Order: sequence, then C-alpha cells, then structure tokens
Amino acid sequence: MTHGHAPGKVILVGEHAVVYGRPAIAVPVTDVRADVIVEDTNGRPGVTIHAEDIGRVIDVCSAPLQEPLSLTVRNALGHIGMDVQRVQLSLTIRSSIPVASGMGSGAAIAAAMVRALAAHLNYPLDRAIISSIVYETEKIHHGTPSGIDNTVVVFEQPVYFRRGWPIATFDVKRPFWLAIGDTGVPSLTKAAVSDVRAAWQRDPERYDGIFDQIGALVDAARQAIESGHVEVLGALMDENQRLLRHLDVSSPELEALIASARQEGARGAKLSGGGRGGSVIAVIEPEDAETISRALVAVGARKVIVTRVG
Ligand code: PMV
Repeated sequence: MTHGHAPGKVILVGEHAVVYGRPAIAVPVTDVRADVIVEDTNGRPGVTIHAEDIGRVIDVCSAPLQEPLSLTVRNALGHIGMDVQRVQLSLTIRSSIPVASGMGSGAAIAAAMVRALAAHLNYPLDRAIISSIVYETEKIHHGTPSGIDNTVVVFEQPVYFRRGWPIATFDVKRPFWLAIGDTGVPSLTKAAVSDVRAAWQRDPERYDGIFDQIGALVDAARQAIESGHVEVLGALMDENQRLLRHLDVSSPELEALIASARQEGARGAKLSGGGRGGSVIAVIEPEDAETISRALVAVGARKVIVTRVG
C-alpha cells in the first residue's frame, strides 16, 4: 500500500492575465489536501479507481479517453513505461479540497495520483515531469490552462509563474495570513476563460491593456511579499479585483464576501481562480481571523479556511 498527496492552492494575484503570458503568483494551501492510496489487487489486469468523495468507481481500461482520472493513470503509467493492461492496481482517492472552488482540487488529485503510482511502482519521477503529466489532465478541466495550478500543487511553494518561463519559487520575508471563503457556487473556470478569450478577440487593445496592468500588479506583489510589506499586498489585491471586474469574472456572491471581509478589517480581498463563483481570498491579521470568518459565513460563505503563507 503506497500513499501520495498534494495540497490545495490559491492564486494570490494575476489569474486570467496569466493565460496571456503575464505573470501570476500562486501559493499552496496545506490545510487541505488530496490523498491517494495505491494497492496491488492480484485480481484481473488493469486499474480500478475508487473516488470515494463522489461515490464513483472507474475501470481505467474501459473509461472514455477524456475521463480525467483515468487519463491521469494512463499518462503516468506511460511515463513509467508500463501498460495499463499489465498491472493489477487499485487507487483510492480522498480529498478535503473543496471541489470547483478555485482551490486546485483537480490538479491536486492528479498530482497525488501520479506521486502514489510512481512511489508504488518504485519509479521516481521528478517534479517537472509530474507537473507536466498533471498539466495534461488540467487541459480536460480547463480547456487552455496556463499551467499555474499544476506547478504550484506539485512544487508546494509560492510560485511566480509565467507561461513558458522557468519556474520561479520565492521567499516570503514575513509570514501573512489569508482567509479563504468559498461561495459554494461552482467556479466555471472553463466558461470564464473562454468568455474572456472571446472578449479579448473582440477588443484586443483594451484587454491587453488590462492584462498589462494586472501583470504590473503581480510584480509589485512579489516585491511586497519579498520585502514583508503585507499592507501593500492588500492594496494590490484590491486593485487586482477592480481589474477582474472589468474582465467580467466577478459575481454578486463573490462581491458580498469581498465587501464583508474588507468591512471587518481585511487589508485587501479579491476573487481567486477562474471566478464567477468559487473562492474569495482576503489578507488578514491573525487576531481578526475569528471575526472575519464569522462575517464571511454570515454573508453566505459555505466554508472558510484560514491559512498562513510563509
Ligand atoms: O479556477 P482555477 O483556480 O483553476 O484557476 C484558473 C486560473 C486562470 O488564470 C483563470 C486560468 C489558468 O489556466 O491560469
């Protein structure tokens, strides 16, 4: 029996613009995670996946090619040089990461699956390879993913991500706290990304201008984190949210959570991930965590996670 796991994540600044080559910053959220157990079955050949949280059992050999969990198994075994028909394995998946909440649940589950399979079959895979296998699964979830989700859940460190650039992790000078509030409305990342693309195609000049402004905020946010200026980070997140509204990816539920966090003393707040639903992140002082969490629940948050970065 072999275990593999991977954390959740949030995008601190830069979502959507990151799809168009601008930078973004994401951080792992280790308070929630995906866990996968691999066992030998000594039964009939093939791989059976037990996705316990959603009550599904999937036979990899007969699953449709685009089914994300079985695609992950096939791709991982392909890298390891094994044929799915020649192994006898069962995978059990459990995850505490809220689904469709902008917290990288799909990427974390895929990363945990690849890690557990590689460890069980005694075939070490380096992080860049694991990330590239998870990226293939992300394409099914997101259509045209930037690659930020797979990178941060596999590297498990704050990342400054830019499509096509070498992966840059960086130091957090002074730890800071985030309250993550889940609206409970499923985040439609694929739809939001495709709507932003259509809008960009209609008016590239305007949208490239917004993406440039977001990119500049991301660089300033990295500096603020590296120099320990949390109050500056908060203001940059507020500004990022203002630009995300221009991209039309916010929603009344997200705005209610953002307003409530700001009212209760958060230093800055914004949506995180694809938007339209999913989660809000707020930079908070640890002593305000209780009050802000209660306020978020009062205006509709289904779950609040308080996490330390750095
Ligand atoms: O919804 P999430 O957390 O998976 O994040 C999507 C982030 C986008 O920038 C909107 C898309 C992407 O692939 O980077």
